[in-house]
Amino acid sequence: MYRTAHRIDQGEEGNAILSFPSVIDGISAIQYSQSVMGKRAYIETWGCQMNLHQSEGIAGVLQRAGYTLVEEIEEADIVLFNGCMIRQKAEEKVYGRIGAVVEEKRKRSVLLGIGGCLGHLRGDSLLERFPAVDFVFGSRGHGSLPERIEQLRRTGGRLPAQDPPTIEEVPFSRKSSVTAMVTIAEGCSNFCSYCIVPYARGPMRSRAPALVVREVEHLVSAGFQEVLLLGQNVNSYGRDRPEFGGFAELLDWVARTRIPRVRFTTSHPRDMTVDVLKTMAARDNVCNHLHLPCQSGSDRILQAMRRGYNRGQYRSIVDAVRDVVEGVNLTTDIIVGYPGETESDFADTMRLIEEVRFGSIFAAKYSPRPLTRSALVEDDVSEGTKNERLQRILSRQREIALEENERWVGRDVRVLIEGETRDGRLYGRADDHRTVVVEAGAIGELATVHVEGATASALAGSVLISAKGNS
Ligand code: SAH
Ligand code: SF4
Ligand code: F3S
Repeated sequence: MYRTAHRIDQGEEGNAILSFPSVIDGISAIQYSQSVMGKRAYIETWGCQMNLHQSEGIAGVLQRAGYTLVEEIEEADIVLFNGCMIRQKAEEKVYGRIGAVVEEKRKRSVLLGIGGCLGHLRGDSLLERFPAVDFVFGSRGHGSLPERIEQLRRTGGRLPAQDPPTIEEVPFSRKSSVTAMVTIAEGCSNFCSYCIVPYARGPMRSRAPALVVREVEHLVSAGFQEVLLLGQNVNSYGRDRPEFGGFAELLDWVARTRIPRVRFTTSHPRDMTVDVLKTMAARDNVCNHLHLPCQSGSDRILQAMRRGYNRGQYRSIVDAVRDVVEGVNLTTDIIVGYPGETESDFADTMRLIEEVRFGSIFAAKYSPRPLTRSALVEDDVSEGTKNERLQRILSRQREIALEENERWVGRDVRVLIEGETRDGRLYGRADDHRTVVVEAGAIGELATVHVEGATASALAGSVLISAKGNS
């Protein structure tokens, strides 16, 4: 769960999107809040980076319309929950937070809206199921959210669905001042058997390369050190708009700006091209990290998942990646307990993570989702077996990650310092996405760090040289 932080990019023309100058430019948040009683908004977000970024867009749009963003539900006139549907648990977490608003509603007037993938798919049923929910909004068309909220203040109910055919250009109120997320495509047309995203987000729509590059150039001027290019499947970029070119070209254009670091996520193994790998290898500022979700190591399960590759093909893609992009850190997503997954299928997945030796994995238990193909088949792997497989794979991965991280001890790595850990130490990411905890430096600096220790989840080291990334 993330609360949207409120870095207001004053002086920048809406920071990202130039056609919408921000109305808050030049006015401090405090001055502002005095004039906006009734327009204090609180946003809470669940789900993937795209949802987080969409909340940054919602925050930007609300600010443009005169709203102030607040950090606590207690201070808000309007509460927006931007929810996720990827697994049952993700959905339940959002419902679990409604109580906090109910509590507040007992004391005073406050509006609650639920949106994102969750609002898009559950729609009116949320209004029926939770009387505290005043309105529901979808996963796109946020540009007109303020006007639609105004309308709803009068009528109540569901905001009419908005489904713009292209990606909307909106201003962003960004959470980080170091790393900026930049959308290159929205939606997904893949329809993996288990996945709700194509239903929640619609078909893949690519964003014009000129808009992407212009946004990155503005982020460079605003002092950002890193961009994270976002799409459900970045390497199928442009497939819906051949005139936009492909992902390799876009990546190269972005890398040719003066942004110190470029990352991207997520890459679908089936659509990986040698050109993308060549660009990664050729451009120093494109990070040495590839998130390449395999989902399973069993041919039978991969076929049932409709992933479009088998285990051998996945292994060949990994070999090609490692051939072209020297020292690349591979990470992955895995689903355990897909319908029909036997002990032998699971053993194939375990074998895959042992062979590939990912830097880190994100593993989750299969969860049947409405509308998806796999929801039509029995969810026949018991909860106990799913739990046990999840624990086995996570524990094996911890051993692998520790061994891999230990190889870095004694070496120097370049780290972009991003934030503070809970216990007040600074942390950042190495070029290859490994987390590095440092004891000196400042947020936003690109530091050369001598690695002195390693755990399964991070490296720790001391800063040798630190400098603002652009210099
Ligand atoms: N576009 C990305 C994934 C986006 S969803 C890709 O194709 O890899 C993020 C992750 O959620 C997926 O990689 C998958 O591992 C997991 N996931 C999706 N649907 C799921 C489900 N029904 N149950 C469990 N995990 C799921
Ligand atoms: Fe879901 Fe598959 Fe699309 Fe990824 S590629 S978002 S897993 S349908
Ligand atoms: Fe969740 Fe929607 Fe992302 S379902 S994972 S928030 S695309």
